[in-house]
Amino acid sequence: MNVLIIGSGGREHALAWKIKQSPVLGKLHCIPGSAAIAELAACPEIGQDDHDGIYGYCAAQNISLVVIGPEAPLARGLSDFLAGKGVKVFGPSQRGAMLEASKQFAKEFMDRNGIPTAEFTVLYCAAFAREKIAANKKYPVVIKADGLAAGKGVRICRDEAQALAAVEDFMEKRIFGASGSKVVLEEFLTGREASVMALTDGESALLLPAARDHKRLQDGDAGPNTGGMGAICPVEIPAGDMEIIRTEMIQRFLDGIKGERIDFRGVIYAGIMFTPEGPKVLEFNVRFGDPETQAVLPVIKGDLLPALAACADGKLAGRELELTGETCVAVVAAAAGYPEAPEKGARITGLFDPPAGTRIFHAGTAARDGGYAAAGGRVLAVSACGADAASAREKAYGALARIKFEGMQYRRDIGL
Ligand code: AMP
Ligand code: GLY
Repeated sequence: MNVLIIGSGGREHALAWKIKQSPVLGKLHCIPGSAAIAELAACPEIGQDDHDGIYGYCAAQNISLVVIGPEAPLARGLSDFLAGKGVKVFGPSQRGAMLEASKQFAKEFMDRNGIPTAEFTVLYCAAFAREKIAANKKYPVVIKADGLAAGKGVRICRDEAQALAAVEDFMEKRIFGASGSKVVLEEFLTGREASVMALTDGESALLLPAARDHKRLQDGDAGPNTGGMGAICPVEIPAGDMEIIRTEMIQRFLDGIKGERIDFRGVIYAGIMFTPEGPKVLEFNVRFGDPETQAVLPVIKGDLLPALAACADGKLAGRELELTGETCVAVVAAAAGYPEAPEKGARITGLFDPPAGTRIFHAGTAARDGGYAAAGGRVLAVSACGADAASAREKAYGALARIKFEGMQYRRDIGL
């Protein structure tokens, strides 16, 4: 089976690493890929928005399955385009991708389908938003830009001034462009968070072990929000909460997409808050999490590729994936200046011959002088597995200690 992955980040590097181990893989390809991914896959110079170019490549290379990593190509309809031409795709339709690309769509979908989530109101214009904020008595309150904003469109507002500033930034200054044409005003929830991903063919779902990412830049959840500074998998979820996740989140999601005729073959990712009133969905993503994937895939012992193909084929029912039984910790190393203004170009040393049982997934690196240099905000993640969190942490941080580049930032408390 020849496989094409779409994307270029750490998640796609991890997917390429895992798929590469499959005995049923023919040749692996990745568009656009990266220098590190090119060690595992052919990476032709085709843009991930070049739908015709991607289809032409699929036809020429006899691709049996396309696995779409990031949300942006899904939201632009790449899956529909390829499926329409008879190519098998792991990645939901454009309408399915709205569960991530529009907070309003996601919240209303949850509401219609009885999926537990925070109370919310959709605000369609700045004047109405100000009225609602003036009438709001309870702080903090959460304000979310409706559209995609690279994980930066959520503000926890401690008082009225912050709420008004969010409205001004999103709706008037349009710091995220059209993504801020509407906003969602949401009840603030408290509790621990976890991410649950499930593979789905639109009929049934196969839950992957739960993970937790660490979104803030600094130890102890201090500092600004980032795309994710590390992750651990699995995390313990009480049986009662797991039952709610299965029945009231994943099953109702499946009932919802079936009832609404949404073609969804791919991953549904539920970001969950375990509140005192029970688990609630904070957000849906329609793809593998990043950096969760770098911690989840290493604990999957079974062959992932046939499961991904089964999703695309609508034949997932009854499938299982064997786990290693270990815990994996993935620690992200970010560039100086991340997240505001990441510096590019620092040469990275210590990448070769990582200790046994550890892997380095590149997120933002470029080839330079026979080695690699930092070329993005999140530069790489070191993943390590161990019998428990403590041993996985020890291995991951041991491997990370050998890696150096100027201005490297990382958290010391991933998986604690
Ligand atoms: P989202 O992109 O919707 O997942 O939001 C990003 C982060 O903002 C989440 O991981 C939470 O930490 C936080 N967040 C989002 N919605 C809420 C909420 N209703 N209450 C408290 N925190 C939230
Ligand atoms: N780690 C959060 C995300 O992938 O959106």
